[in-house]
Amino acid sequence: MKQATPPSLSVQPVAVAPGVVLHDLCKDYGTQRAIETLGCEIRGGEFTVLLGPSGCGKSTLLRMIAGFETPTGGRITLDGRDITALPSSQRNIAMVFQNYALFPHLDVADNITFGLNVRRTPKAEQAQRLDGVARMMGLAALLARKPAQLSGGQQQRVALARAVISGRPVLLMDEPLSNLDAKLRAEMRVEIRALQRRLGLTLIYVTHDQVEAMTMADRIILLNAGQIEQSGTPEEIYSRPATPFAARFIGSPPMNLVDAADLRIAAPPGTIAGLRPEEIEIADDGDGLPVRLTGHEYLGADILVSVMAGTAATARLILRRPARLGLPEGPELHIRWAPAALHLFDPKSGRALTAAPAATAPGHRAAG
Ligand SMILES: Nc1ncnc2c1ncn2[C@@H]1O[C@H](COP(=O)(O)OP(=O)(O)OP(=O)(O)O)[C@@H](O)[C@H]1O
Ligand SMILES: [Mg+2]
Repeated sequence: MKQATPPSLSVQPVAVAPGVVLHDLCKDYGTQRAIETLGCEIRGGEFTVLLGPSGCGKSTLLRMIAGFETPTGGRITLDGRDITALPSSQRNIAMVFQNYALFPHLDVADNITFGLNVRRTPKAEQAQRLDGVARMMGLAALLARKPAQLSGGQQQRVALARAVISGRPVLLMDEPLSNLDAKLRAEMRVEIRALQRRLGLTLIYVTHDQVEAMTMADRIILLNAGQIEQSGTPEEIYSRPATPFAARFIGSPPMNLVDAADLRIAAPPGTIAGLRPEEIEIADDGDGLPVRLTGHEYLGADILVSVMAGTAATARLILRRPARLGLPEGPELHIRWAPAALHLFDPKSGRALTAAPAATAPGHRAAG
């Protein structure tokens, strides 16, 4: 006979959470291809964010992993086992939906234990696990309420508790915070991240919000039009974007991308030059690339200064400057940057160039 789980085990970390591997996965809806053939590895015990603009295929990918959508081609393995044809209920994967999907007629306790009930988990074990999860997630005082008597954040927490109580080591979340206000979103980001760490879950999290991705992820898989644009740690994608798309998608304000000629950089025609706003400084000594001041935006700690560069003064650049330095005296200014801060992209392949840029550009700051 099956033994009830002792209370101390109810919310214990997963011993070794399994990883998920996508092998040549693709998905068509009729004649429309939602996911191009792609492959990637989602490591066990890590927080992986699927990031990308609306319609790029994030939910489709997540739903295939969950088993709610059948791939047109390719395979999905969980811990090395092929789960492509396995029904959702047998995948050992839990999912939290954007709209929470709580049952309005059930109270919080029954909502959280709903899945355990369906699987006929003994009542005593259900009660033990509910107690552990409710305490861990700050829901103990709300167990008798109906969902309509909860705030959005509390409803979100109930949906999360329902997934966590399943004890399944892989958790999928599709834009779980999009219905919350900014402050609550920031709090829940920290909470979900801490929960994932504490339980050692393999968490796959879908969002179009690059701030969420940057603050929560161990690893980001950046999607664009059904393909993987780049994957890596937040630091890797921020500091070494593989494409102009990745350069613009991560970072706020985004990386400045202009024609390299407008920065007087010796490079083949059409080369795209990229500089992060915080990497550009105003050269008070009049040395550097001449630009024209066109506007500014005050942010509190920083000011965003807009300048135009290039012979026709049509290449717009935004630079971030500590507000305590004040607004530079314009309209004619000079800017500069460390040579290592410059990103170059090949216009044909659309990929980052790794070759060192010419050291003679006027905007290059001297070493030291
Ligand atoms: N059931 C469906 N039938 C037909 N096309 C679909 C279906 N579901 C999704 N698509 C299409 O597949 C593409 C990817 O959709 P998906 O929902 O995965 O995007 P997403 O990245 O989650 O976007 P969002 O951020 O807006 O949620 C879109 O072009 C969408 O219109
Ligand atoms: Mg979606």
